[in-house]
Amino acid sequence: MTTHKTERVLLLGIDLGTARTAVMSNRQFKGLVHTVVGYPKDIIGVKILNRTQVVGAEAIEKRSLLDLYYPLQDGMLKEASEKDLDAARELLQQVVAMATPAAGDKVCGIIAIPARAALSNKGQLLKLMDGIMDTAALVAAPFMVAYGQDRLSNALIIDVGAGTIDLCAMRGTIPGPDQQLSIFKGGNYIDGLLEAAIRDGHSGVHVDRYLAQAIKERYGFVGQPEQRVVVPLRIHGKPAEVDVTEAIRVTCETIVADIVEGIKRMLLQFDPECQAAALTNLVLAGGGARIRGLGPMIENDLREYGEVKVTVSSEPEFAAAAGALKLATELPPEYWDQIGDVVSR
Ligand SMILES: Nc1ncnc2c1ncn2[C@@H]1O[C@H](COP(=O)(O)OP(=O)(O)OP(=O)(O)O)[C@@H](O)[C@H]1O
Ligand SMILES: [Mg+2]
Repeated sequence: MTTHKTERVLLLGIDLGTARTAVMSNRQFKGLVHTVVGYPKDIIGVKILNRTQVVGAEAIEKRSLLDLYYPLQDGMLKEASEKDLDAARELLQQVVAMATPAAGDKVCGIIAIPARAALSNKGQLLKLMDGIMDTAALVAAPFMVAYGQDRLSNALIIDVGAGTIDLCAMRGTIPGPDQQLSIFKGGNYIDGLLEAAIRDGHSGVHVDRYLAQAIKERYGFVGQPEQRVVVPLRIHGKPAEVDVTEAIRVTCETIVADIVEGIKRMLLQFDPECQAAALTNLVLAGGGARIRGLGPMIENDLREYGEVKVTVSSEPEFAAAAGALKLATELPPEYWDQIGDVVSR
């Protein structure tokens, strides 16, 4: 009797973002890792850490010992140095390992990348994937958000990431370059402004980009504040309670006008008879979708356009990874070249 060996396939949906990489598997694994790799600055760091590299949140925590490499910047893969590319490769390796493939498993993944990288960095990224998975396809992240939520026509996706805000008009086909738009004002831009605003408002206050980001992620809002935001900081080294309400509102609101302008431009990609439908099908995704009040403010700023409805994705930082996994599950890997660029071994 012959035993028929069925090949086991681990399917992955990955969103390789500037700040965070999300991964989901067809075996219910779900993880989020900061897109950063740290290398010890010198031998002392190696001794303390007992490792030559640290990936993700731990690298940020131990940043005083490490040189940090963020492989993506402004929605593009950094190709500045070998170290940046090594960091990208190590990160992807780690992300696949997190999903724990069993020995002998085939690993096939659809990888959502920022829209800009999808338009120009694909070759480099495909090279990086080579050897990490059996089959990998690269697809623009906002398209995967749309796929995951079955919003494939008359929908406009607004992916508020760390490096860029990507807009994508879905018209019932795979979106081309004309249906996508990147705005260079993502969460990192807000963090920089917030750090400066807090420092300018309180002389001698100690704040850095990471602290500003943490404050934004906890309290970020636009429009009317629900309550004052007072945070414990240090001024000239002494503990102090600092009111950052206005600083948060003003800096978070800096992205709204660009988003609204982007929506107006993308709207013209739809046939006139579809524009009203698209306006009631605006979807916010990406970590920045968690900024409180963003949806209502966009709706209000577009009120001259008739009925406008913004939906916030339920777990916005996983929206693209969930869509990529859904597509990976629904379309057999041998057809992936129809939706993106593929490497296979
Ligand atoms: N609760 C929150 N309020 C405001 N911003 C938040 C919140 N949570 C996360 N963010 C911000 O969302 C951004 C990360 O979102 P996301 O993981 O979608 O980005 P990314 O995919 O890594 O970036 P990109 O798409 O630009 O490559 C960061 O700037 C982060 O500070
Ligand atoms: Mg993203």
